[in-house]
Amino acid sequence: MNIAVIGTGYVGLVTGTCFAETGVNVVCVDIDKKKVAMLRNGEVPIYEPGLDALLERNLDKNRISFTTSLQKAIKDCDAVFIAVGTPPDEDGSADLKYVLGVAREIGQHMEDYKVIITKSTVPVGTSYKVKAAVEEELVQRGVRIPFDVASNPEFLKEGSAVDDFLKPDRIVVGIESKRAEKVMRRLYKPFLMNGHPLLFMDIFSSEMTKYAANSMLATKISFMNDIANLCELVGANVDLVRKGIGSDSRIGNKFIYPGTGYGGSCFPKDVQALVRTADEYGHSLEVLKAVEAVNYRQKTTLVEKIKKHFGNDLKGKHFGLWGLAFKPKTDDMREAPSLVIIEELKALGATIRAYDPVAMHEAERILGDSIEYAKDEYDVAIDADALIVVTEWSEFRMPNFRILEKLMNERTIFDGRNIYDPEEIEEIGFNYYSIGRAA
Ligand code: UGA
Repeated sequence: MNIAVIGTGYVGLVTGTCFAETGVNVVCVDIDKKKVAMLRNGEVPIYEPGLDALLERNLDKNRISFTTSLQKAIKDCDAVFIAVGTPPDEDGSADLKYVLGVAREIGQHMEDYKVIITKSTVPVGTSYKVKAAVEEELVQRGVRIPFDVASNPEFLKEGSAVDDFLKPDRIVVGIESKRAEKVMRRLYKPFLMNGHPLLFMDIFSSEMTKYAANSMLATKISFMNDIANLCELVGANVDLVRKGIGSDSRIGNKFIYPGTGYGGSCFPKDVQALVRTADEYGHSLEVLKAVEAVNYRQKTTLVEKIKKHFGNDLKGKHFGLWGLAFKPKTDDMREAPSLVIIEELKALGATIRAYDPVAMHEAERILGDSIEYAKDEYDVAIDADALIVVTEWSEFRMPNFRILEKLMNERTIFDGRNIYDPEEIEEIGFNYYSIGRAA
């Protein structure tokens, strides 16, 4: 089977490489010449564990190739995946100009039947806009070529994208014809070995599933953050409450970890987009509006604790910060809680020295010289009045506290991810503040 994947961003590159791994011939397209040249050499422009090795293997086997020509890429393919970006436009809604631009280009060049699949996260109704754009181009050309559109949302997580793609919990495909179903069933057969389902549904439901999934997960997190804050006030321990409720299989023990709020390129954007879609239909999604408000507040929780400890004026105070990425195993800093924390602390007059195992380049690109950058996790602690844990990288879990206490001005830790045991930390003489565990 031959497929084309348009867009070699996060989703496109993982999709293309993982399909190639099953033996499919994949041609990936990107307008960025530099990126295409890099990828041809096996250089992966993003940080994603396991992706470089997988790409190299499939390049060696000639199962994947990269081009800037969409026309060439779609020539012999059975299916075209659209995986280009949908950046938020001025009012925050998804800008579809890239998706629809690709659709038009496909319409201008296709010569035989294809399934045209939307893989990017797009508002409900977009796949039919893709269909209309392709049809318009075919009419312009005065040709009648059959095609189908399909919606195939992606559920992979940054940091475990390859594994999530190769062993999915489920695959959701929105289709409108048996012919498209047959193509999609064949493509995804190798991924169903773990017995998880391939779910076919109508296109609207498929597009909606993506938003509902991310919104439900974001809801779990905001709910737990709200409960955690109350736990502190009443003297309860959210870790115990989490275990207590998580062992009920109806609730489940995943995605109920309180922290500094959810970030990344997906949850914030998708929650907002769904709220906006509902508003457009005259329906107010009250729960999701609260989810967003709670998350906004949660990103400043650590700052509130810092103010309580040091006072509102932080001039002359210097903080060490561990973790800049929005979560471990990625260098992605989009909507990262670290950005809000840094901004607020600086506004109060503090200086900051930060370290992240992989996001240092990204941080320098975004934050420039507004903070100092440490060479490792201990370098961060030099002369710090407190250490702030923002991202729960494994290497922060068992530090040498004796080294830390020698380097720091004051033995104080603000832990936004509850990675330490409060009793142990207090026993070794540190002031310790965490989330939802009465200090
Ligand atoms: C999320 C979804 O989990 C994927 O299924 C989806 O495909 C993806 O969005 C997308 O739409 O493309 P991702 O953004 O990579 O994936 O990150 P997650 O691992 O879901 O974490 C999101 C945020 O929630 C992070 O800031 C994380 O720290 C936070 N989180 C997660 C918590 O605060 N508590 C938890 O218990 C779990």
